[in-house]
Amino acid sequence: MRPILASILLFFLLFNCSSDDDSPAEEQLPPEPITAAFSSTISSVDPNTLLVSNTTTYEFDFTSTWDFGLDNGAVTGVTGTQTVRYDAPGTYTITLTVTAVNGVTDTATATVVVDGNGICPDNTCVTIPPPVEETNDSSGLKDLADFSVGMAITRARLNVPQHAEILRNDFNNLTAEFEMKMDIMHPTPTTFDFSAGDAIVDFAIANGMDVHGHTLIWHNEFAIPDWVKNFSGTNAEFEAMVENYITTTLRHFRGRVRSWDIVNEAISDSRGNPLRNTEGDGLGSIFRQKMGPDYVRKCFQYARNADPDVLLFYNDYNLALSVGKRAAMFRLVDDLGDLIDGVGAQMHISFNSPSRSRIQDLANGVVSRNLLLHFAELDVRVNTEGNASLTGLSTSRANAQKAKYQEVVEIYDAIPEANKFALTVWGLRDNETWLTDFWRVPEFPLLFDANYNTKASYDGFAEALAP
Ligand code: G3I
Repeated sequence: MRPILASILLFFLLFNCSSDDDSPAEEQLPPEPITAAFSSTISSVDPNTLLVSNTTTYEFDFTSTWDFGLDNGAVTGVTGTQTVRYDAPGTYTITLTVTAVNGVTDTATATVVVDGNGICPDNTCVTIPPPVEETNDSSGLKDLADFSVGMAITRARLNVPQHAEILRNDFNNLTAEFEMKMDIMHPTPTTFDFSAGDAIVDFAIANGMDVHGHTLIWHNEFAIPDWVKNFSGTNAEFEAMVENYITTTLRHFRGRVRSWDIVNEAISDSRGNPLRNTEGDGLGSIFRQKMGPDYVRKCFQYARNADPDVLLFYNDYNLALSVGKRAAMFRLVDDLGDLIDGVGAQMHISFNSPSRSRIQDLANGVVSRNLLLHFAELDVRVNTEGNASLTGLSTSRANAQKAKYQEVVEIYDAIPEANKFALTVWGLRDNETWLTDFWRVPEFPLLFDANYNTKASYDGFAEALAP
């Protein structure tokens, strides 16, 4: 009997031990497989922005990893709604990978299609009908003005029919927003790339528009290629490189581009407004450092030699707002004498500044020197309070912006014919403005909203020309 009893006891112990060992392990195993899920909506204020939310539900802990298809790597551990901007037209894949505590993973993916208008709802891009042939009784801004009405443009946006249609209707002078700067046109010491500029020039010529070349020499880190920033040759070699760059570029576009900004933003904002030189002047200029205090004149001379017919401009900002900077600009311009044809006054202004009289003083100064005046890069800020959650314009702010546009156009329209050149707006739709990146708050500074509707600012522009 004893061996039988012992066997029963052993069986009982083994049974209980095995169930004791197994049960905790079973409790650690999640009962359901994990399923990744997310939702997305297009931002109501920016058609290029997608708001993506992780909707995965699971009763145990899990981690999430996002890849938004932008070739900038995956991110793990972020929570809440993700704000993702898709700038360039194309097709992107969003991948969400969720990993449960036991290591089991699942992924969910979605495709995002972007065209020149922004993210296409349901990945269906609306085909906009081809532009209607322009009629003679058009009343676009360019038809109301007796000067060129300019617009900043990128090559990509020329391919958007609705965008191109507005360009044809309202504007007759194009400026490349970035594709005719040194970083793009002279990417390596031995190569030039004019393809983007050529596309813009071809579009302009095909549509009876002029092109204002912008800008040959600009010290800004976003406008010069790395090999120039890190130039290792002598100063004489640097100068020869600049002469070759200006000569090659102007000859390439000769006869197809009406005017060029030869030097941009050479004058420092620091006390006394000297030429930018070292970093102590705000942003230093490698051109001033390598070519000496006479570098602006040298660049204008190279340009004149390369193309005696093209109009040569000096371009800078805050020339209305800052009396000191304006005076420094006029000293520079006076020193250039016959080498310069006109002044480009960037009009990055606000709804309440600078005053009408300061803008008028600037115009008077240019006119008194018998130079052409370009009111360039016009945009009128409204979010000067820096409100990070601003979603649109109040009626009063829209009217204030309209009044400022009207004021600027009236001042320009009233200068003598001989000094008129162009008034250029820096971007078509509010969602395209550089100011949002620069100030890191929403901004609505232009003539059209994100859906290509004209704003009160557009009416202000038009009413100044046809009161
Ligand atoms: O370099 C890449 C290019 O390879 C790519 O094709 C492109 C696709 O978007 O991105 C490129 O970077 C661009 C960069 O310029 C290149 O130079 C950026 O997108 C672009 O946003 C960037 O900024 C421009 C900036 O000048 C520098 O060129 C802004 O769009 C433009 O508004 C700004 O304009 C300046 C005026 O020229 C001078 N006055 C001030 C004004 C505002 O900064």
